Amino acid sequence: MKTAFNTLNNRRVLLGVTGGIAAYKSAELTRRLQDQGADVRIVMTRSATEFITPLTMQALSRHPVHLDLLNPDTESVMGHIELARWADLILIAPASANFLARFASGHGDDLLTTVCLAAECPVAIAPAMNQAMWSKPATQDNQSILVHRGVHLLGPDSGLQACGEIGAGRLLDIDPLIERVSALFDTGKLQGRTVLITAGPTREAIDPVRFISNHSSGKQGYALAAAAADAGANVILVSGPTNLSPPERVEHVPVISAMQMHEAVQARVGDVDVFIGVAAVADYRPTLTQSQKIKKATHGKSTLTLELVENPDIIAEVAARKNKPFTVGFAAETEQLETFARKKLAQKNLDMIVANNVSNTDIGFNSDQNAITVYEQDDSLDLPMMSKRALSEKLIDRIAEHLRAKP
Ligand code: C5P
Repeated sequence: MKTAFNTLNNRRVLLGVTGGIAAYKSAELTRRLQDQGADVRIVMTRSATEFITPLTMQALSRHPVHLDLLNPDTESVMGHIELARWADLILIAPASANFLARFASGHGDDLLTTVCLAAECPVAIAPAMNQAMWSKPATQDNQSILVHRGVHLLGPDSGLQACGEIGAGRLLDIDPLIERVSALFDTGKLQGRTVLITAGPTREAIDPVRFISNHSSGKQGYALAAAAADAGANVILVSGPTNLSPPERVEHVPVISAMQMHEAVQARVGDVDVFIGVAAVADYRPTLTQSQKIKKATHGKSTLTLELVENPDIIAEVAARKNKPFTVGFAAETEQLETFARKKLAQKNLDMIVANNVSNTDIGFNSDQNAITVYEQDDSLDLPMMSKRALSEKLIDRIAEHLRAKP
């Protein structure tokens, strides 16, 4: 694997900070969650702001800090329901005795308790308080109610406390805390891998107003990018012009022509684990792009000849690299599917080729559905008609199996 393994890649963590001396540690925690690839947003209780300033947390998280339940400014940007929906995990660290009591009794009178009530994602609490407060029956009952309701309890640790006493109640150290948070997520099949995908058509300019292109909609490539991101990968999507919005959590690199796509891929492919060429790259471009609009001939001539020159084969160049990524091509064919697909697999030195029959207009280019056959050197797999998104998940599974099998 060429990239560092980030255990929280693409994960959205809503960090709730409550009032206690350990609140200062939430600054470091934010950083370390980000180092692992997480996108972190912060909710602070009013008493937390007595211990650490919202400005510090805002600067570190690079997002406005959410403080109030009904704040017209932040509510309009992201209200409590949106915040709860946004999060893949809500982590309260440090969680004070007061917060545990209010959460356990179902309060919804400040932003943090309300977000926790509205949450459908997992919630984890990392308590931090004086040892006597932690051991009190009331606090113990509260934490056990929460654990019974499915809240994940991370810590607390034992040892010397800020108040000078020794006992259980310390916030878990940052390293084990990050480990426990990472363990709460299913490790995505492509967690920490980098996947470069080309998608859509390319446009080859004839003159300032005309171009040569094709019917590719980009739907299959975008669906694959979304599925790879869901599987935990860093995804770079180099895309020709489409009408689609790039999926969330994907780095989108818009290009127009095959030459631009070629350049964008060359600049990024050195560090990737997987390359998937879904783009319908134009095989040829006009040798010369006219700088002025070509005028219709005024007398006699009823033909116009355009000279074309071959574009670089982007995927073949990727597959010819010394340290080539796992390389997957697409073959849109109208006849002899297996023969042509296998020929491309061999000629372009691909690890896998996905063949689809574009003579059937219900599937392929502009459709939301597709039916494909995957060919590998010694194997093949038929995937019957299904949505491009469902197909993408199956393809990502297959690619992940190959990566796992690689030494
Ligand atoms: O040879 P053909 O164009 O049918 O091959 C299709 C595969 O090759 C697709 O994966 C496509 O993205 C890729 N390709 C490419 N650069 C080209 C032409 C095709 O990467 N110039």
